[in-house]
Amino acid sequence: MGLASAPDACGGAAVSRLSRRQFLRIAAATGAGAGIGVPLLSGISGSSSTGVVLTSRLRLPAPFQVPLSIPPVLSPTRSDATGDHYEMTQRRARVEILPGVNTPIWGYDGIFPGPTIHARRGRTVTVHHRNDLPVPVVVHLHGSRTPHGSDGYPTDLIVPPGWQRPPPTPMLPADPHANVVVGHRDYVYPMTQQAATLWYHDHRMGFTGASVWRGLAGFFLIHDDTEQALPLPGGDRDLPIMLTDRAFDADGTLRYPSLEPDLYDTPGVHDPYSSGVLGDVILVNGRPWPYAEVVGARHRLRILNASNARRYRLTLDPPPPGGGGLVQIGSDGGLLERPIAHDAIDIAEAERFDIVIDFGRYRPGQNVVLRNAFGGGGTANVMRFQVTRRVRDDSHIPANLATIEPVPLSGATTTRHFLFQNRGGAMGWQINGQPFEPTVVNAATRLGDTEVWTLIADFHHPIHLHLVQFQILSRGLNGPGPHDHGWKDVIDLRPAEEATIVTRFIGYPGRYVFHCHNLEHEDMAMMGNFTAS
Ligand code: C2O
Ligand code: CU
Repeated sequence: MGLASAPDACGGAAVSRLSRRQFLRIAAATGAGAGIGVPLLSGISGSSSTGVVLTSRLRLPAPFQVPLSIPPVLSPTRSDATGDHYEMTQRRARVEILPGVNTPIWGYDGIFPGPTIHARRGRTVTVHHRNDLPVPVVVHLHGSRTPHGSDGYPTDLIVPPGWQRPPPTPMLPADPHANVVVGHRDYVYPMTQQAATLWYHDHRMGFTGASVWRGLAGFFLIHDDTEQALPLPGGDRDLPIMLTDRAFDADGTLRYPSLEPDLYDTPGVHDPYSSGVLGDVILVNGRPWPYAEVVGARHRLRILNASNARRYRLTLDPPPPGGGGLVQIGSDGGLLERPIAHDAIDIAEAERFDIVIDFGRYRPGQNVVLRNAFGGGGTANVMRFQVTRRVRDDSHIPANLATIEPVPLSGATTTRHFLFQNRGGAMGWQINGQPFEPTVVNAATRLGDTEVWTLIADFHHPIHLHLVQFQILSRGLNGPGPHDHGWKDVIDLRPAEEATIVTRFIGYPGRYVFHCHNLEHEDMAMMGNFTAS
């Protein structure tokens, strides 16, 4: 643990270079020595994703034939003065994803994506989850500040009735603190945070990749008065956009290279896919390369990359006259301070970008393709917007969206270093040379403390912290990149990159995880614990 044992290796440029040299030495040593399980990397230069494409075994539809659909909004089963109660059942279903093809999925209420929950800041949300699936499940509300007991800790399972717990193995270690329930559980979310685009998804230790791939993911949007007072596009011009990639077998089932398709006691995937599973079909809200008719006016797109391992570079084709067609107004944790006009948006796994596209900058009748410059062939397309008539547009993007106080570095009490690295083998994705172990505390934080974390990656690793939102201080020797602004809960680390983040551990005491959000890396142990007390 060369880096972790150098507590003074933080801050200045000279020390950063030392860290990088140490890192390169470590990377070279493991790469040469261990025969590491990373056979293919589609673009180590920061251009693409760490993963291997699984190809479909049936004829894929032409792009832009299927209309975009918006996941249904879940209604509360009851509401009282302080909050709203919801119910969801996780179950098997058969759905039509590719036209005319029947695909079995696992879905929240039997649909993919799951139903969208609209929450309000200050009103507690309680979601009663029932598990009718044949395997244990765990629900995590990604991006939320949630008490430990409802955060979806990876061993806090909802097991199906009659479930026989498998004996612990190194890949599926025992957890004496696990809170396991049978059949159903209430997740309680205090909703003390600002308006933001969150999502919920499965988080079972060792099997998250396979479960999310089968369909366990949905939107959870928080609204508040401050955001609602802004003249941003709303109503049917506020679109949740979930990006996933998938591969299909000849019979229409989803292909996924699980070592054990029953997902009982053996996590992980077959080589060569252990570096990440990529599909050859791009789904938007569960539909392949859809199209959407849009009026010539501003639209808000809440873009979520819910893919297991794929990164996207989103562009508009053609760009609007004058460029800057993707105006970012929000990041993972809510609104930015000021809008940022981008020509391209790089979005890693689990990240959210709230953007506004003004289709009034295009001619009525024009087609505008949302492309993925990191893809090739079919995966270079995402969806198509078909601009209909021009309409009066009362929305606009204010120059000031929100106030974001920089976390004061002077208050930082602790600096930690984490190296995200492949060391070969079935649990080869490790943090500081250790695979995930529920009983090991990798960082003991104190509630209210400010900490600076230096994160170093060998390959692409989108690093996510539960409980908190953070700010990105640096990438390499420079400041934050163009896509690093605002409150973040995921940082997109690229190969051989070092970055620094700062956060205050505000919230609730208990045990939380931080991990790589490449779900294959996560399942094959690139996860750690931090405690807050
Ligand atoms: Cu979106 Cu711990 O995950
Ligand atoms: Cu990773």
